[in-house]
Amino acid sequence: MQHSGNLNGGTDDASTQPLLRLESVVKTYGEHQVNALCGVSTSVARGEFVSLMGASGCGKSTLLNLIAGLDFVSSGKIIFGADDITSIADEALTKFRGKKIGFIFQFFNLLSTLTVEENVSLPLELTTKLNTGERRKKVMAMLERVGMQDRAHFYPAQLSGGQMQRVAIARALIHEPELIVADEPTGNLDSENGLKVLTLLQELNRNLGQTIIMATHSEEAAQFGNRILQMKDGQIVSERLCRLS
Ligand SMILES: Nc1ncnc2c1ncn2[C@@H]1O[C@H](COP(=O)(O)OP(=O)(O)OP(=O)(O)O)[C@@H](O)[C@H]1O
Ligand SMILES: [Mg+2]
Repeated sequence: MQHSGNLNGGTDDASTQPLLRLESVVKTYGEHQVNALCGVSTSVARGEFVSLMGASGCGKSTLLNLIAGLDFVSSGKIIFGADDITSIADEALTKFRGKKIGFIFQFFNLLSTLTVEENVSLPLELTTKLNTGERRKKVMAMLERVGMQDRAHFYPAQLSGGQMQRVAIARALIHEPELIVADEPTGNLDSENGLKVLTLLQELNRNLGQTIIMATHSEEAAQFGNRILQMKDGQIVSERLCRLS
């Protein structure tokens, strides 16, 4: 399938193309035929930090799940880099997700029986052939980046919410994904811990060029990005640049 259309009218150089392009994405759920997304078209450039806002039920999580390859569209296309991820089979989609996406959840989703170090190491075990020593080195460097190196042997239950989320961010980043998808990453944190997590995401974006898409209910949180997409009833109804972008 051909998806080499370029928006700049220039060459097909990968760096000039958006990382992500959505074309008329529709998602209808199950027997009740809930129209969660009614034709969403947008694009996200490499290195952007995009915030997704909108009332509860407007389709933010649905959109993020589709982008992350966690669910299937009803119609429309999602093009990631040069690949149409809506036309690939289940197994290839799992592989895509494991390699290209890092997902940060509202409720952290750390495995309670694994230590901090083991939680962060898990994606490496699943997606790389690194040996134990190599994995450990990478994990400790990443824990240092999120300020959690002195908690490597703790279990999730022994951490604060903010600490758990920083570990979850380390886990999302450890395999160097092209895109971080964050669904209300501060939704379950107090304002101080929320601020730490948002500052960390912003640093990752600004210093490492990490591309991020984040759903949030908070205008203040959304302003940590570069651009805000406003959703309503399954559609993107407006977009604006963040104040300090
Ligand atoms: N598995 C599902 N089956 C049926 N309907 C669903 C399912 N998941 C979501 N929906 C419906 O799709 C719509 C969009 O839900 P979604 O979770 O994407 O909203 P949201 O914007 O993330 O809301 P919130 O801010 O509360 O997290 C809602 O009307 C919801 O009821
Ligand atoms: Mg949601």
